[in-house]
Amino acid sequence: MSGIYTAAAAPNIALVKYWGRRDDSDLNLPYNSSVSVTLHQDTVKTVTSVALDPRIKRDAIYVDGKLQDSTRSDEKVRLILGVVRDMKSMGNSEDGVLVVSRNNFPAGSGLASSASGGAALVFALNEALSLHLDDTSLSVLARRISGSACRSIFGGFVRWKRGTSPGGEDSYAEQIAPPSHWKLIDVIGIVSASRKKVSSSAGHLITPRTSTLYRSRLELAERNAESAIRAIEEKDFERLAEITMADSNNMHATMLDSWPPIKYMNEKSWRVVDAVHEMNSRYGKSVAAYTFDAGPNAHVITTPKYEREVEDVVGDALGEGARVLASRIGNSPKLIGRKDSLIDDSLKPLQI
Ligand code: PMV
Repeated sequence: MSGIYTAAAAPNIALVKYWGRRDDSDLNLPYNSSVSVTLHQDTVKTVTSVALDPRIKRDAIYVDGKLQDSTRSDEKVRLILGVVRDMKSMGNSEDGVLVVSRNNFPAGSGLASSASGGAALVFALNEALSLHLDDTSLSVLARRISGSACRSIFGGFVRWKRGTSPGGEDSYAEQIAPPSHWKLIDVIGIVSASRKKVSSSAGHLITPRTSTLYRSRLELAERNAESAIRAIEEKDFERLAEITMADSNNMHATMLDSWPPIKYMNEKSWRVVDAVHEMNSRYGKSVAAYTFDAGPNAHVITTPKYEREVEDVVGDALGEGARVLASRIGNSPKLIGRKDSLIDDSLKPLQI
């Protein structure tokens, strides 16, 4: 079987965060459940083409024009190749695979691409190998590339249930509500393009092992996930905003409490925190909610009514040269046509 298939997927932003793996297997099994919104492919997306062909002698992955070195002990590449190998064996294929992936995020934005990249890859491979896997199985496979990727298999509002099985069969994401349920906006303030000092995969192991606060985070995060889902179902923005901000603060507190301490937020991130609290107190209620992943970039969730003002508040807080993007909530990954393929008919990556 041979063919070239291309899929697009969007990153997601967690409102209740996943931080901490319960073992050091390659399965990315979380200690706690998490809740996210999938962003819109019009604003942020990863496009991934896969080619399966007997002429390809060695599986290879290109990301943003660069060949990823599979001989180095790069953990991400190893995880991706492991999932590719398992999906090929499900499809009884011995063909070589070429993967070419491109992010449309602004150059060096520091936005996480592993979630959208992982989701787009398993989605495209499912087609290329005619596996006909359902979304739950795709979510389990995407999780092995990057935990948060399991949530990008779904559009709208998404929950990832931690599960309890050692093999991870019950640790996958599911949709809570479609994007049309509630028109929220994520205003993204790009603070830094520099690479993080501690990768999230290392941090997921360091914090549970060393932070004395971590045990209490687990109970809180599980409760936050339940409350966030109720707030989403009831479209209770104030409640969702408060859970979102508190959960981000709590996760970053356990990071700082790790040994050695892990610090992802910087001065500029904190300026956004202050500015959002100021805006909320001006309105006498929470109209915006910040959340930060394993990096300094700010995500501020709001409703369309306050979108412009939040963009200004974030832009002013970050100062000169700040980049601010706004994303609606978007859909699940989709297949895209041949004309947007990143691989040409002679099986060469297209450097576009
Ligand atoms: O999926 P990973 O390994 O990149 O970890 C993601 C961790 C956070 O972004 C900090 C939180 C989350 O739930 O997305």
